Amino acid sequence: MNKRLRALVWLSSLLVIAGTIALIVVGIVVTDDHPLSTLSPVGRQGRDIARLINPIFIVAGVVFFLVQGAVLALWWRYRVGGSESGDGEHGFYEDDEFPDQIHGNDRLEIAWTIIPTILLAVISVFTLVALFALDDVEASEEDMVVTVIGQQWWWEYQYHLDGNTDSPPDFVTANELVIPAGVDVALDIKSRDVIHSYWIPKLNGKRDAVPGRSHDWVIQADNPGRYRGQCTEFCGLSHGYMKMVAVALTPAEFAQWRDNQMTAADAPAEGTAAAAGWDTFRQQCASCHVINGLTSAANRDGPDDSPPDGWDIYGEFNGGDAGPVLTEELVAGAAPNLTHLMTRGTFAGSIFDLYLGAGDHIPYLELANQGTLNRGDLEAWIYNAPERKPADADGKRGMRAFPSLSPEDIDNVVAFLSTLD
Ligand code: CUA
Repeated sequence: MNKRLRALVWLSSLLVIAGTIALIVVGIVVTDDHPLSTLSPVGRQGRDIARLINPIFIVAGVVFFLVQGAVLALWWRYRVGGSESGDGEHGFYEDDEFPDQIHGNDRLEIAWTIIPTILLAVISVFTLVALFALDDVEASEEDMVVTVIGQQWWWEYQYHLDGNTDSPPDFVTANELVIPAGVDVALDIKSRDVIHSYWIPKLNGKRDAVPGRSHDWVIQADNPGRYRGQCTEFCGLSHGYMKMVAVALTPAEFAQWRDNQMTAADAPAEGTAAAAGWDTFRQQCASCHVINGLTSAANRDGPDDSPPDGWDIYGEFNGGDAGPVLTEELVAGAAPNLTHLMTRGTFAGSIFDLYLGAGDHIPYLELANQGTLNRGDLEAWIYNAPERKPADADGKRGMRAFPSLSPEDIDNVVAFLSTLD
């Protein structure tokens, strides 16, 4: 073997070893405390998964180092030109010399067939046990079920307090899934367009949201807290910006939050900035965003795609002073329901914090009262959302830009949104 080739083999071997060790160290250090880490679960299902991953990872690690160690040892033992003596018996072959060629070794072949078979059989038993445990939705028929709907590029949550997903939801919210801590919450995962995948890594594995199908899932958090998530199925341009948060509250706090979510919004008092903002909202935003008690979602996604009364085909209100027809409909199918926007910690597919300083130090139920609104991101978002979060080129997905809004219009819209608590 010539010197350059030998140097290349050395270098690449060292790179592989160093790279492997670096990956393992960086992986452990970076992910353990990361908000999206599965290695530090805080819920029943997350723990079931970790209990499966950890021993398999250890076994796989041992196998990895044994095999790689054997490869390196054999390579070293039988390398060419390792010694001047060149006695073929103990390695150190000359360049033109071949070791004794053998064919087959029954004992070795049986061993390296049986050992992996046993390992995989044992792992598959534990895997099946874990899979069945994850599918075990302990919530009973009458318990609350949350229908989770993925849509390019945000999540909708429809709360069915009686567990009946065939009837209209009791209330609808977006991006932040609020649950009581300590209990299993049944989820019913769906999609309105393409395949997404719902994943709160600290609480459970991922479950695909597939159009036309309904996937049962369950989520549980041991303690109150906010746990971040990420869509994990590539779903278009802004897939990376399709985030979500699971918020676990104490049962008493959850009841308080739930009761508030079921209230409708009131129109702002005449003559205020918020009232002017409501006027703008009604003309520009209400064709996609529902606000319970103020806007209507009637016929919005009609079978023939015709706009509802009072709306033009561009989704703009042109029905004069009458305003949209009020209905009980809570779901527009087009964009998040904003009835209680100010009670959420994030917006725009959870990519922006709604309150400065992440608001994590403020109790969740106090966000609207104590938080300092992240006005910069909110105003920029309203004015030109696609600049912050790319939408499809044809403009049919994602929030569109509103270049016609003046800074004053936007201030007014924010004043109106600020009333939605
Ligand atoms: Cu939704 Cu990726």
